[in-house]
Amino acid sequence: MKNLILESERLRIRNLQRTDLDDFYFYRSNPEVTKYQGFDTYTLEESNSFIQSQMDKTFGNAGEWVQYGIENKLTGRLIGDCAIKLDQDDVRIAEVGITIAHTEQQMGFGKECFITILDFLFSIDGFHRVSEIVDVENVASIRLLESLGFKKEGHFIQNIFFNGKWGSEFQYAMLKQEWQSKKKANR
Ligand SMILES: CC(C)(COP(=O)(O)OP(=O)(O)OC[C@H]1O[C@@H](n2cnc3c(N)ncnc32)[C@H](O)[C@@H]1OP(=O)(O)O)[C@@H](O)C(=O)NCCC(=O)NCCS
Repeated sequence: MKNLILESERLRIRNLQRTDLDDFYFYRSNPEVTKYQGFDTYTLEESNSFIQSQMDKTFGNAGEWVQYGIENKLTGRLIGDCAIKLDQDDVRIAEVGITIAHTEQQMGFGKECFITILDFLFSIDGFHRVSEIVDVENVASIRLLESLGFKKEGHFIQNIFFNGKWGSEFQYAMLKQEWQSKKKANR
């Protein structure tokens, strides 16, 4: 088990660290950013303890969500975070979630981060499938998944009580062979 560090052209995906606190709190305290996510806005104290809880986590543990920082390599600042959870019963399957700071959205960072994670996961021997569940109203996330070629597999209707009302969700997934074919087609 080791700490994950992934790099793309503009981004470094690595463990959250103490110096990320101000940047993390900046976007995680914004209700627009957390609107469709399974957690509320964070206070500064909650941001601090969350970062502490993630700092030493390693990649590879079944059933554990690990939240990694997304750093802009040019500025060294945190512009978001992403989470990977390997399935409890089969580590060849994962769920992924991405959050980009409100000031950094729609600049291709979410997509660049997701591509980097998919390339990494599907490079693991035997790795099979990545899925994500999104609120049906989360247009940005749906666009991101569809632009990456994720397939919509499910539509759960009023399956979750969220922010005082019943919400509905889509399930999207990508298989290794689909990702490989997409990469080949884009070459
Ligand atoms: C979803 C999210 C990660 C997208 O990140 P981003 O960096 O803004 O997305 P990108 O700039 O890489 O855009 C990816 C694609 O989605 C589209 N897109 C992004 N935001 C959009 C929006 N608000 N409305 C419509 N399309 C949008 C882009 O046009 C792009 O499409 P293309 O590749 O066909 O050109 C970001 O909006 C976010 O953090 N939202 C809040 C957190 C959240 O809900 N996360 C998902 C649940 S885990």
